[in-house]
Amino acid sequence: MTVEVTTTRLPDRTADRVLALEARQARAVAGDRPRKRGKFSARERIDLLLDPGSFTETGLFVRARPTGDGADRPYGDGVVTGCGTIDGRPVCVFSQDSTVFGGSMGEAFGEKTVALMDLALRTGCPVIGLNDGGGARIQEGVVSLALYAELVRRNVQASGVIPQISVVLGPCAGGAAYSPAITDFTVMVDGASHMFVTGPEVIEAVTGERTSAEELGGARTSNSLSGNAHFLAADETEALDTVRELLSYLPVNNLERPPQYAPLPPPSGIPLDEIVPDRLGQAYDMRDILRAVVDDGELLEIQELFAPNVICALALVEGMSVGVVANQPAHAAGVLDIDASEKAARFVRFCDAFGIPLLTFADVPGYLSGVRQEQAGIIRRGAKLLYAYAEATVPKVTVVIRKAYGGGYAVMGSKHLGADINLAWPTARIAVMGAEGAVGVLHRRDIAAAEEPEALRAELVAAYEDTHGTPYPAAERGYVDAVIAPRDTRAHICRALRALRGKRAPMPERRHGNIPL
Ligand code: HXC
Repeated sequence: MTVEVTTTRLPDRTADRVLALEARQARAVAGDRPRKRGKFSARERIDLLLDPGSFTETGLFVRARPTGDGADRPYGDGVVTGCGTIDGRPVCVFSQDSTVFGGSMGEAFGEKTVALMDLALRTGCPVIGLNDGGGARIQEGVVSLALYAELVRRNVQASGVIPQISVVLGPCAGGAAYSPAITDFTVMVDGASHMFVTGPEVIEAVTGERTSAEELGGARTSNSLSGNAHFLAADETEALDTVRELLSYLPVNNLERPPQYAPLPPPSGIPLDEIVPDRLGQAYDMRDILRAVVDDGELLEIQELFAPNVICALALVEGMSVGVVANQPAHAAGVLDIDASEKAARFVRFCDAFGIPLLTFADVPGYLSGVRQEQAGIIRRGAKLLYAYAEATVPKVTVVIRKAYGGGYAVMGSKHLGADINLAWPTARIAVMGAEGAVGVLHRRDIAAAEEPEALRAELVAAYEDTHGTPYPAAERGYVDAVIAPRDTRAHICRALRALRGKRAPMPERRHGNIPL
């Protein structure tokens, strides 16, 4: 029997109505095919992301608005929306279908996406956007632009309330890229995803400059140069796995706690007492210290390829989520430049918004000096990290490993910015600057006048190291709570985090602060 599907008349018999429904459902999910080889369809991506069988679709029968030219009005209008679970916890998800109007946002598409955001906010669950589309649908004009603005407004309302994760699986072009930019994390697929405001064709037409989508905002460019993305995945499956892994550290909303896991010991055999080299200028990998402190030695690094001189990572300590911020002496001596400051500031604010305690490891020669950094605004942009730490009210525990010089001491989770428990290794040097620089400033004339200038310089450097090149002046003032043996670091951190679990720190009433942007 053939079933005529109409929008005006339905068959009378129940059995016929069920058949008609099935035919309509078949049409609604039809056309969901990948446009290019190696790409999953919009629905397949949702299936890969969510717990099997957990997806409840919203707006299945929503159809595209008539365009006036008699074109087909596809069901779904190019976006699949709904809710489901990941590891048994609720999430909302939208998945753009690039086979329908290039995945661009028309009126029905936009209304579905905005309704999903509202649902996520009402139910307090994370929202995941699978982006693969051409942005505002050109044929639908201002309506499409209006709905993008509506979406961005929802992104802002949701910021700090529910985690928002964007996955870019194809193009994410034009103003459409601003919605992912406001979300907390963006995952991109190597060689397959692009994010840019203006595409290569338009750039060439307007400026004559020749470029490529990859150079403008490919997954590697976005992860390592612009910092627009936080994770680089080898393929779509890895990208969706990254989302699941990321969510495993996060609460479903700002009023809940992250999941509590069974505590796991860190890997044994990392010789913490021997990690810091004897020579002050010598590099080492901060990750070795971090791995020896967190459960199972496991770190989920955020923006691993961007500003590698600072490490931002999610990890567990005694089964509880923590946000780790650490200078990385293996890259540019762990100095804080503009990129590192902005990367760490956004991460600190994310952790603070979602109640994730902050663990800071300092080995920092200070903020980076130089004409380029000054002219690019290291004062304004470096201040973001000061602001973020000072504003954060979650438990804050800091360990000074080696250098904590100048502004670097103040900003990297110092007591003065509101850290709760501050520890230092015996190798810590907390001072306004390093010995060579300090002696040069304080004793330039004495050295110039000396019979043996180098001998005098060495003597003065040694004297400075004895007084200022240790953690004890800070510890004597209570700026550091304890100087600890490196091998005991995890034990101290566990005790500190346990003690701080019930921390309460109300902020003064105000509309909001004015972070330097
Ligand atoms: C309507 C679109 C479209 C769009 C693509 N298509 N983008 N239809 N509106 N914005 C359609 C194409 O006409 C084509 O239809 C199909 O999708 C596939 O597009 P192709 O160009 O063939 O595919 P591809 O080579 O993969 O390139 C994809 C693309 C490119 C990079 C997305 O199409 C593109 O640059 N589109 C324009 C992007 C853009 O400038 N959008 C407006 C941004 S402004 P057929 O029928 O031929 O298959 C914006 C404002 C938001 O978004 C405001 C936020 C605050």
